[in-house]
Amino acid sequence: MTGQLEAGRAAVKRGDLDEARLLLGPLVAESPAGPASIVLARLELDAERPEVAVPILDGFLAVRSDHGLASLMRARAHLATGDLAGARDDATRAGELLEDRSSAERVLAKVEAAEDARRVAALVERAAPLIGVIDAGHVEARSTGPSQEMRDAARELAGLPLEGDWTTDPNLSKIAFFVHAADPEEALRSYDAHLVEVSAEFGYITWPRRIQEHVRGRRVIDVGCGFGGFGVGFLVAGASSYVGLDPAMNMDSSAARNKRLRQRADMGITPRQIADDLPAIHLVRGKSEDLAFDEQFDTISLHNVTEHLAEPDLVFAGLVPLCHADTAVVFHHHNYYCWNGHHDPPVQPAQLDLSSPAHTAVYDWRHIDLLPDLPPGHRYLTGLNRIRLDELRAITERYFDIERWDEIPSSAATLDRFTPEILDRVRRTIPDLTERDLVVHAVLAVARPKRPREA
Ligand SMILES: C[S@@+](CC[C@H](N)C(=O)[O-])C[C@H]1O[C@@H](n2cnc3c(N)ncnc32)[C@H](O)[C@@H]1O
Repeated sequence: MTGQLEAGRAAVKRGDLDEARLLLGPLVAESPAGPASIVLARLELDAERPEVAVPILDGFLAVRSDHGLASLMRARAHLATGDLAGARDDATRAGELLEDRSSAERVLAKVEAAEDARRVAALVERAAPLIGVIDAGHVEARSTGPSQEMRDAARELAGLPLEGDWTTDPNLSKIAFFVHAADPEEALRSYDAHLVEVSAEFGYITWPRRIQEHVRGRRVIDVGCGFGGFGVGFLVAGASSYVGLDPAMNMDSSAARNKRLRQRADMGITPRQIADDLPAIHLVRGKSEDLAFDEQFDTISLHNVTEHLAEPDLVFAGLVPLCHADTAVVFHHHNYYCWNGHHDPPVQPAQLDLSSPAHTAVYDWRHIDLLPDLPPGHRYLTGLNRIRLDELRAITERYFDIERWDEIPSSAATLDRFTPEILDRVRRTIPDLTERDLVVHAVLAVARPKRPREA
């Protein structure tokens, strides 16, 4: 017997799986709780035959229910066959039995991820016919009004239990559009299937989701919106209306930045079409300081805009009349003095190519050293205002009360490159730079209109 077990082990070792099965199978049949069961079950698991491993482990555990390793193996086998409840039970038991719980915890994490994915798949399947009704009719409904079937579908979608990543999965983004709307039937009028899909694809829902507490149910103005494609992202996060303004917006170009791929691409729709078709979205070409609005907004968003403003003080002053007492001014600022504050490649150390002159000119904070020698009109001088963190804070506080000021550190890979010598080097150009100036990647701030002082 021992000889046959050892021969079976040897066959596994040399990869002769058929021979191993021939040797181990009879041993398992004879003694289901013997060591051959563990060897054979592991072989079948490794051979991606979990459905064969499960009955072997069932036989073993029926006798030796306190065997941690066998429980862990059966948890893995159940996970692979899709028996998530079985996998959860076995992984939990293995965690109780094994001294080192880490393997069991890893399996449990995978079980949870699989359970999440299964729930999301069920949600998408349930929503599919409803989305189908709306997607088929929404363009025509702009002239005829939505059918009763479309209204019912919108209401039903709004009641679904949303979960999963609704910023990148277009089906979930469509469900989120109705779930987050205050009035799903009204939201139908500003729904566009293509625009929701492309907003998810281009990464235009990520920022509105990040600040969703200031978006859902709110009238939003997006200062420096860029292309204008952000509008539907805000509606997906539940904004009741959206005004986007930007001096660089070309109302008739469908070219936009794909934020996920970090490159320009065709969005398949122009700002003019978006604004014409969707009543909740208004797009305006112009600088915020030059425009007068006779309305006030619940939220003013500036995403990666403050580092580009030629006159930030003027722009912040111009935001004050757009506010009522509870307006939130929410901005994300990309700090010029951080590793990639130049806005050029490389955007992260993994992309650094030391054979590229463009990279070697700016990498490891060299874009700061370049400043005194840049020709007038260079983009770092005209397109980036190079505002310091404390200057931005002071300007914000001149017009608003700061409610939240989060300084977001650069990635670990970037921070690893920082040395005191680099700080000494950049100080030859700007003597009062601090380590903080160099390592803070961005600021996420929320500000509120100043409260009138009490007499
Ligand atoms: C980096 S882009 C950000 C666009 C968009 N918010 C995004 O995150 O994709 C900065 C934008 O700020 C705009 N901008 C610059 N000065 C402005 C001003 N005074 N008023 C409004 N927008 C301005 C620029 O035209 C540019 O489109």
